[in-house]
Amino acid sequence: MESFDVLIIGSGLAGQSLALRLAATHRIALVSKRQLEDGASAWAQGGIAAVIDPTDSVGAHYADTQIAGAGLCDPKATHFVVEHGAAAIQWLRDQGVPFTPDADTAWGMHLTREGGHSHRRIVHVADATGAAVQETLMDRVRKHPNIQILENHVAIDLIVGHKIGRVEAGCLGAYLLDRSSGKVSPFGASHTILATGGAGKVYLYTTNPDTATGDGIAMAWRAGCRVSNMEFIQFHPTCLYHPQAKSFLISEAVRGEGGILRLADGTRFMPKHDPRAELAPRDVVARAIDFEMKKRGLDSVFLDISHKPAAFLQEHFPTISARCLELGIDITKQPIPVVPAAHYTCGGVLIDIRSRTDLPGLYAIGETSYSGLHGANRLASNSLLECVVFAESAAQDIRANPRPRPDTLPAWDESRVSDADEEVVISHNWEELRRFMWDYVGIVRTNKRLERAQHRIKLLSSEINDYYANFRVSNDLIELRNLVTSADLIVRSAMRRKESRGLHFSKDYPQMAANPKPTILYNPHWPKTLTRWNT
Ligand code: FAD
Ligand code: SIN
Repeated sequence: MESFDVLIIGSGLAGQSLALRLAATHRIALVSKRQLEDGASAWAQGGIAAVIDPTDSVGAHYADTQIAGAGLCDPKATHFVVEHGAAAIQWLRDQGVPFTPDADTAWGMHLTREGGHSHRRIVHVADATGAAVQETLMDRVRKHPNIQILENHVAIDLIVGHKIGRVEAGCLGAYLLDRSSGKVSPFGASHTILATGGAGKVYLYTTNPDTATGDGIAMAWRAGCRVSNMEFIQFHPTCLYHPQAKSFLISEAVRGEGGILRLADGTRFMPKHDPRAELAPRDVVARAIDFEMKKRGLDSVFLDISHKPAAFLQEHFPTISARCLELGIDITKQPIPVVPAAHYTCGGVLIDIRSRTDLPGLYAIGETSYSGLHGANRLASNSLLECVVFAESAAQDIRANPRPRPDTLPAWDESRVSDADEEVVISHNWEELRRFMWDYVGIVRTNKRLERAQHRIKLLSSEINDYYANFRVSNDLIELRNLVTSADLIVRSAMRRKESRGLHFSKDYPQMAANPKPTILYNPHWPKTLTRWNT
């Protein structure tokens, strides 16, 4: 059995930041189910929100986050993140991230603007911020002698003391499938961190990479942790609509720099939906596009930035310009066809300000967690910031609270399984799940649609659990099992919310309730003898 001080599952911005923060003092395993660079972080375009300009303020960033979050952002978590914004950017600069410069400012970086922000406060690397950040951190991670990189390793489940009859409470590590050999082994750790990203692949149309299958959320749930606010799935208003473009985002910064949303005949429609027009928060813009498309039976709407000079577009949006041109769309002359797509999981594993989950020794950071920052709708560019800030808070807590390393752990039991007989069951169920989630649990919901989705989830869960119990695990089976659990948590949370707020819009409850609360789901299998951190 391999054992480490810290087992970090996920190599996005959250996981890599934590690894680098702790590597001087701890022996770390950094696990990635594909290559290190695969994940949402490397796909991030717009940038990272932080208060950098002295005419901006932490109070204004806090207020913008709260407004976008529709009154459901946790005040403590929100203060914590926005107050640490400038320090997070400085840390990234210290690592070598080449943020787009602006020699005309005292702080030396260009700040762009996105929907819901009252100031220019988004630091960025042109329109490919995530790729630049990930490359910089990966270079450091790969060279660090204390970080062992485990690529192509998929975490299947957490190893939990009380579930294996141990006196040690809490999380003792995880079972990992080595995708190259097909072997499953226990990996022990004093501290285990879920940094596995979101669950966008639950939906048929998404901006997310294939890694976003809700693994961390599902693993934590099975281990007994609380999960919160899963009904709030953010749909990005402007995903490129083109048969050959799988999941390509057109950054919100395009609207921030003057892009206009139009119908095919050129009519601008956002001002009639919201006085903030194209720069309204994402939930508002996505719902407006959905409304226009459904009302008129359209396949897409259009985002037009062709009125800006070609040199400006080339400087600010080189990646978007190039990708669109490859597909025959010249953004200097033509509007871009766009549709909303599932983009961000605002809910997740409930954590405190120290990134702790309910299980001692288990932390969650980044998109897989629910810190309270995003409320009912995430403010653009707050998520990369959250990754860096909570990686630092987890590092501090881990340093301050050493735990023993488990010396032995039970081997993975394969005695009752055989090789899968029909892989088609997995691909069929995967397709079915993503389609009904899109149709029934999308931008606009109703009780009837949620009931339909829940009914199908029950059938799929039973079929998949049966399959899981009888056949050897594979990457696709692990991901499908986690997707179904994530879908179940989304639907259950949506059914509990008897109002419309932020990203959750129900035709049956169109009003906002007076005293909103987060939706916290409790796993009934949690042992009565164990206390949770704030209960
Ligand atoms: P990720 O970067 O998604 O990393 C998750 C990691 O976990 C991956 O390495 C994956 O392989 C690994 N993993 C998952 N499951 C397992 C498992 N079972 N076993 C082992 N490894 C596993 N946010 C902003 O703030 N600004 C932006 O400009 C921005 N632009 C975006 C553009 C796009 C197209 C997308 C999709 C998102 C964007 N976001 C943006 C959101 C932001 O990128 C993500 O929320 C953030 O990167 C999440 O980081 P993370 O480290 O939590 O997860
Ligand atoms: C974008 O560039 O539009 C994405 C920003 C985000 O998701 O925060």
